[in-house]
Amino acid sequence: MGTGTTSSLGIVMLLVYSAGAFTDPIILVDPPFLELGESLSETILRCNLTNPPSVIEGHVWKKDGMNISDTSNSGNSTIMEYTLTGVDAKHSGEYSCHYFTTPLVNHSIYVKAAPGVSSDKKSEHGNEGDVGVLTCKSSGYPPVENWLWSRKTDDGDEVIMNTTSKFEIKNTAHETQLRIRSLTIEEDQGYYVCNATNEIGTRAVTIHLRVRGRLAALWPFLGIVAEVIVLVAIIFIYEKRRKPDEISDDDEQGSAPLKSNASMNHKDKNIRQRNSN
Ligand SMILES: *[C@@H]1O[C@H](CO)[C@@H](O)[C@H](O)[C@H]1NC(C)=O
Ligand SMILES: *[C@@H]1O[C@H](CO)[C@@H](O)[C@H](O)[C@H]1NC(C)=O
Ligand SMILES: *[C@@H]1O[C@H](CO)[C@@H](O)[C@H](O)[C@H]1NC(C)=O
Ligand SMILES: *[C@@H]1O[C@H](CO)[C@@H](O)[C@H](O)[C@H]1NC(C)=O
Ligand SMILES: *[C@@H]1O[C@H](CO)[C@@H](O)[C@H](O)[C@H]1NC(C)=O
Ligand SMILES: *[C@@H]1O[C@H](CO)[C@@H](O)[C@H](O)[C@H]1NC(C)=O
Repeated sequence: MGTGTTSSLGIVMLLVYSAGAFTDPIILVDPPFLELGESLSETILRCNLTNPPSVIEGHVWKKDGMNISDTSNSGNSTIMEYTLTGVDAKHSGEYSCHYFTTPLVNHSIYVKAAPGVSSDKKSEHGNEGDVGVLTCKSSGYPPVENWLWSRKTDDGDEVIMNTTSKFEIKNTAHETQLRIRSLTIEEDQGYYVCNATNEIGTRAVTIHLRVRGRLAALWPFLGIVAEVIVLVAIIFIYEKRRKPDEISDDDEQGSAPLKSNASMNHKDKNIRQRNSN
């Protein structure tokens, strides 16, 4: 009796299981996941839906949850394909195929690549004594696990930098910042490298740091001051050379009405005289 109950329970469970297996929608993906690399040129991502829960009224592919333009259609095919042409970090992410059924069904394919690393500027400037700030950003999937800053020596070697009283390194998943206190031309000017590593690989970016002397920072200001001095001097000399004429004009007319009127009258006279000549 004991065995009978067990076996009938087993049969019921088998029936429930197989009923589920035959009616549940299944999406087979090919490839199940993907690693992008230099050797890859073009890859087709494919989804194959069996047992659609209802009529298929359309499809769309998404990348990181956003529609990929031009992949939306109203077909009823059980096969969905998307051709991936890029091989760099920009094309990494979560790709998912979506079937418009009731209920909706979807499946994801994770496309991984070595990190994309960039810096806003290939060359950064700092003033002597100030804090120098170098920044690297990363993009792509999977996120960066490890950031590393190093400095290029004259021999071309790379010396790994650590947080000290002089250097401060701050990391987030998508950015790293190196702050260098009290910049000096002799010690801090040079080439710095930031390395970003995730499970696929490492990518690096080099930034050139230039340190300007204290006086160099003042040059633009001194230039403006010099310009103003020259301008004032020119105006002053010009006024000095004009003044005696005007004084003699006023003397000729005896009294001192409005200065500008006097000189204008004088000019008018000159013009009239020239015209009549
Ligand atoms: C889709 O899946 C079905 C069932 O597994 C299989 O028979 C068919 O060959 C697949 N089609 C493609 C294009 O992989
Ligand atoms: C994505 O595409 C589907 C199908 O064309 C559309 O219904 C939906 O509104 C789109 N979503 C966005 C955010 O554009
Ligand atoms: C899919 O659409 C075609 C016409 O575009 C139609 O002939 C076919 O019967 C449809 N298949 C299903 C399963 O609805
Ligand atoms: C994909 O389907 C799952 C259920 O299988 C659902 O939880 C999820 O929200 C769907 N994803 C999107 C982006 O619609
Ligand atoms: C930083 O630390 C690493 C080990 O953690 C060490 O190999 C390296 O020499 C250190 N760099 C400096 C500049 O001290
Ligand atoms: C940084 O990455 C580059 C490129 O992958 C590599 O050549 C270099 O050795 C790395 N530097 C360090 C300090 O690991």
